[in-house]
Amino acid sequence: MELIDGNKIAAEIAAELKIEVSAIAGRKPCIALLRVGDDVASISYVRKKEKTAAEIGLESRIILPPVTISQAELFALIDQLNNDPGVDGILVQSPLPKHIDEVAVFRRVSPAKDVDGFNTLNLGKVAQEDETGFVACTPAGIMELLARSGVDLKGKHVVVLGRSLIVGKPVALLALQKKAGANGTVTICHSATANLPAMTRQADVLIAAIGRAEFVTADMVKPGAVVIDVGINRVVDASKKSGYRLTGDVHFVSVAPLCAKITPVPGGVGPMTVAMLMKNTLKAYRLQACG
Ligand code: GUN
Repeated sequence: MELIDGNKIAAEIAAELKIEVSAIAGRKPCIALLRVGDDVASISYVRKKEKTAAEIGLESRIILPPVTISQAELFALIDQLNNDPGVDGILVQSPLPKHIDEVAVFRRVSPAKDVDGFNTLNLGKVAQEDETGFVACTPAGIMELLARSGVDLKGKHVVVLGRSLIVGKPVALLALQKKAGANGTVTICHSATANLPAMTRQADVLIAAIGRAEFVTADMVKPGAVVIDVGINRVVDASKKSGYRLTGDVHFVSVAPLCAKITPVPGGVGPMTVAMLMKNTLKAYRLQACG
């Protein structure tokens, strides 16, 4: 079993980006990070994005509207950023409060600044294999992780567990694309899939993105499979100082010995999401600078 080291691969990408950014004379690329309210996980994700941006030499603007902000007010804030020539990329951290329509917010972000890749146009471009758009960061990070770990999806059965807009659907489309490294045969499973273990056992590459702690157990995995664990779940653990520990959607201890390769949590897909966000921000800057 080989552990896929997301921290190491993300650091390689960050180092590559840092060189590119250092060559930019004048205004550096800038990302606006919008976090509504005080969701505990979102606080740490946005902090990590801010920190990584600084390490690479990107500017960031942190905007923290209160949880009570109305949808109309949030739209106005996004419009302001859409029209601000000093801002290249805009990210609205998910989840948003219940009274706000998240998809409507993602649509409000200008496609040219949509470094999260959740806007309708950019999701459509993934389906059309049009590389002028932005690919959502976690799916893009998974593809990069596979490519840099020497996993070619051509001829492989890729089973995606989860159909979210943020991970499941776009990663399935990427794995399906007709390009080097992709060309997978893709199955998407979800909460209404019958006989799930029989489906996941067919996977040469299993991508678990269902948001349920340690859901994937050894009986659900084919020996020799590559397992990508996208979940980041907080489970209560009295033995930890914080009172909780982070765990993935895969029951790592029992599944890992079966696998050819597997990503850990933390330190697998998570850092790649941040690295791809930085890459998208540089892309947005270049697209805007070039008109
Ligand atoms: N919440 C969980 N993952 C993501 C992500 O990639 N982008 C945003 N904006 N919110 C998230």
